Amino acid sequence: MLLTNSLNISHELVSKVVQHGDIVVDATMGNGNDTLFLAKLVGDEGRVYAFDVQQLALDNTRKRMVDAGLLDRTELILDGHQNIGKYVPKGIKAVMFNLGYLPKGDHNIGTKAATTIAAIEKSMELLCKAGIVMLVIYYGGDSGFDEKDAVMEYFKSLDCKKYTVLVHNFINQVNCPPIAVCIEKMID
Ligand SMILES: C[S@@+](CC[C@H](N)C(=O)[O-])C[C@H]1O[C@@H](n2cnc3c(N)ncnc32)[C@H](O)[C@@H]1O
Repeated sequence: MLLTNSLNISHELVSKVVQHGDIVVDATMGNGNDTLFLAKLVGDEGRVYAFDVQQLALDNTRKRMVDAGLLDRTELILDGHQNIGKYVPKGIKAVMFNLGYLPKGDHNIGTKAATTIAAIEKSMELLCKAGIVMLVIYYGGDSGFDEKDAVMEYFKSLDCKKYTVLVHNFINQVNCPPIAVCIEKMID
């Protein structure tokens, strides 16, 4: 099918933008699916900075990267993504977020509106021109609606001369299908 799910859409858009040698960020490392995906895209000259607040996420992701032989191009950081500015240089090509909690992990350690918006804001500053922030927003269930509602409101406030925001939503599906959002930076 052409229209599969928001995760696939996010990978499609990111792979159109990211090239060998780029610096990119996985803002919500979890089990490392996006860290691995990004590490393949940036090649051996590129760099992936990945963040999570759970040691378990770092341990699981480190193992995946070692198994894939790609650990040397990644920086796994045990800190909140709202502190991205402490670790990541300016001029990055893409930042990926999967909002919510780890499906088989602790449902109480999910992303939160205030820190997510702080991290998105800082990420947008660090992007190069034509760089993107790509989000997949999981909501409903234990995640509730507060974070989704807050970030969607925040996106509407972005200056259209500086950023283009695309919202990709399956509006006739049931059970809160994840929403993909892509923010493209139009200025240096
Ligand atoms: C939906 S999961 C990410 C799934 C991940 N992309 C994967 O491939 O498995 C969300 C993750 O965000 C993490 N998280 C929650 N608050 C965070 C924060 N402030 N900074 C960074 N990560 C955070 C959680 O610990 C959880 O692992």
